Amino acid sequence: MRYSEDLIEEIRMKNDIVEVISGYVKLQKKGSSYFGLCPFHNEKSPSFSVSPGKQMYYCFGCGAGGNVFTFIMEYENFSFVEAVKYLAERAGVNLPQMEYSKEAKEQADLKTTLMEINKEAAKFFFYQLRGQEGTAAREYLMNRELTDDTIKKFGLGYSDKYSNSLYKYIKGKGYSDELLNISGLFNVDEKRGMYDKFWNRVIFPIMDVNNRVIGFGGRVMGDAKPKYLNSPETKIFDKSRNLYGLNLARTSRKKNLIICEGYMDVIAMHQAGFTNAVASLGTALTTQQAALMKRYTDEVLIIYDSDDAGVKAAQRAIPILKAANLSTKVVNLRPYKDPDEFIKNLGAEEFESRLEHAQNSFLYQIEAMQRQFDMSDPQGKTDFHNAVAEKLLEFPEEIERNNYMEAVSREYHIVYEDLRKLVNRKAMKGLPGENYQKPKSGINSRKEKETGMEKSQKLMLTWLANYPGVFPVVKDYISPEDFTVPLYHEVALLLYEQYEKEGQVNPAKLLNRFTDGESQTKVNALFHAELHLESEAQRDQAVTDTVFRMKKNRLDTSLAQLDPTDIVGLQQILAGKKELEQLERNNQLLHISFN
Ligand code: UTP
Ligand code: MN
Repeated sequence: MRYSEDLIEEIRMKNDIVEVISGYVKLQKKGSSYFGLCPFHNEKSPSFSVSPGKQMYYCFGCGAGGNVFTFIMEYENFSFVEAVKYLAERAGVNLPQMEYSKEAKEQADLKTTLMEINKEAAKFFFYQLRGQEGTAAREYLMNRELTDDTIKKFGLGYSDKYSNSLYKYIKGKGYSDELLNISGLFNVDEKRGMYDKFWNRVIFPIMDVNNRVIGFGGRVMGDAKPKYLNSPETKIFDKSRNLYGLNLARTSRKKNLIICEGYMDVIAMHQAGFTNAVASLGTALTTQQAALMKRYTDEVLIIYDSDDAGVKAAQRAIPILKAANLSTKVVNLRPYKDPDEFIKNLGAEEFESRLEHAQNSFLYQIEAMQRQFDMSDPQGKTDFHNAVAEKLLEFPEEIERNNYMEAVSREYHIVYEDLRKLVNRKAMKGLPGENYQKPKSGINSRKEKETGMEKSQKLMLTWLANYPGVFPVVKDYISPEDFTVPLYHEVALLLYEQYEKEGQVNPAKLLNRFTDGESQTKVNALFHAELHLESEAQRDQAVTDTVFRMKKNRLDTSLAQLDPTDIVGLQQILAGKKELEQLERNNQLLHISFN
């Protein structure tokens, strides 16, 4: 069972998009639209627009867009059903209780079901830790000085020594093997069938910002390898878009976020009162994670392990954070290895003071750079100065650059005036200031090549959705069958149906039908394509041309696919072609009006 279309539309209409988005983004009215800084990519000037008329939003910078459901799904990382529930509650609309059969339950919403399975698993691990089987694990956590409160807060658990306890438990809840197979919680092999991925490990549930369990990490209690085993990426677990501990840190009310390397570091810091700590999930920090942090803060403290790997990781993270417009500092833990160890040895107060003395990330980079040069050798020293000057060119603003020049000249005893001259000389030569790769936005990079045929179908949908005046004229020539791209065909069917039934098109409502992210984005793009046309005559001509192109394409395609023995079919196509040529000669469509 699904919610009825009418109900979904009622919920959409009762949630004014400007009001909803204003809860997340500061909007300013400009003309008939509202503008603000896009929450889905980083920018300094607003290209994110919300149209109260259309009840849709669109970002001219990154292409994100949709209706109020899309926004909530994207922003809160909700499934469609969750977004419906959330907005229903917000608008005070009562939702009918859904009676699911087991099969329907699995089909209704795969993501929601996977989250249920993860939640069941987390509960199971949680109780295992407290049961008789969990004695050794409890001792292990005690030895690591975790309090009961902390264990509870992070939902820590234990997977026992048998290889199929979880499998039996979850299976007992009625989920199919097919689902369990994509949950990431089990392994399959021919001999043994399906069995638990985690056994005899302390379990760290990984939660998204809305406290939903999306994956797990499991640590051995001794020195076996691998030390940590993690859930693989699944439909609900995207490692590059989540941060361990952010569900708690987001409400910490501290002035910054602390990013560290591991589960235990996050937990140790939270226990010591540093509740703003998060960790990337065993992988290098990503652009998406930086953007995620930017939603909650403007400053990030990097606190990676003091070993070589940690230093390298910090150097990779700095430009990524900077590109997300986050001011960044690096915390020094020496002589200790990681926050957990540091706090155990020197305590929370000393730790706090290290946070306060965190080093500006630019100066941290300069310091790391210096270690690569032989400063006792005049050549080495000169090379270092040159490298510093080049690095200073990364600051496009003169004031900021000057401030850093001052700081560097002070700390490295370089005569300010000499450094300034060197920097200016390099600037004149137009040397590239950036010696790091700018992260790609990701959104536009996976653009697929479009054929001319696809282009005209897309363009036609854009016309139909944005200029209702076009509809009555075009529909005599073009039917939904003329849209051969499957997604466009679906959209066309819906648009035509709306027009027939309601006498007008309603793109925001139409979007309700597309509940997975990819088709949503594509359909949405149709409604926001830019049409660079000046006069009305130009627009008329463009629509007319598109009609002809689509008709011609359709005929050509039918001709190409025609069964050679189908004489009647051939005659029809040829007649169609003739008609089209006739029409084209007379340019009969030219009286299309847009108003
Ligand atoms: P560490 O080895 O520094 O782990 O790896 P840790 O968090 O300090 O753990 P303890 O204190 O030894 O228990 C940092 C992070 O890298 C990932 C985990 O996310 C870990 O928290 N990692 C590490 C793995 O995924 N697998 C491994 O085998 C090791
Ligand atoms: Mn560590």
